[in-house]
Amino acid sequence: SIPPTPVIGILTVSDRAFAREYEDRGGPAISAYLTSHFLPPFTVETAIVPDEQPQIESAIKRLATTCALVLTTGGTGPAPRDVTPEATEACCQRMLPGFGERMRAVSVEKVPTAILSRQTAGICDRCLVVNLPGSPKAIAECLDPVLPAIPHAVRLAR
Ligand code: MTE
Repeated sequence: SIPPTPVIGILTVSDRAFAREYEDRGGPAISAYLTSHFLPPFTVETAIVPDEQPQIESAIKRLATTCALVLTTGGTGPAPRDVTPEATEACCQRMLPGFGERMRAVSVEKVPTAILSRQTAGICDRCLVVNLPGSPKAIAECLDPVLPAIPHAVRLAR
């Protein structure tokens, strides 16, 4: 039988994008990146939540029921309302700290403030969850170095 097309979840975490005070740019930047880099066919499921830990956790858990991979954007910084890494840790049965380490290591070579991102990754109910910063430029800079490891991580997590 032909395996079902993998579903990739894209979760935008932003008070202002959620309130429609501005347009979500992170989610579409991830979609565009995947379309140009992720060659096997996949479908996308998107969601937007405010920077509230319970809502981020519910969205990750809900996406994890259908998705093999969830990419979050935003809420990884040091501001009091940045709680995406905490929500990710709370949902995940195990963490994959190498993703955050690698993304920061590559990013600080481009922009010194990349050290401020607390982005992490883990496995939530067999779904790989990877945090990305909110800026569209950061999304590509962070995905480039870890993309080769994602298909393998997804397979091992299933
Ligand atoms: N990483 C890369 N590659 N490029 C960037 O421009 N911006 C940083 C950092 N990581 C950045 C980056 C900044 S300024 C912040 S505050 C943190 O990501 C957290 O961003 P977030 O709160 O939108 O998740």
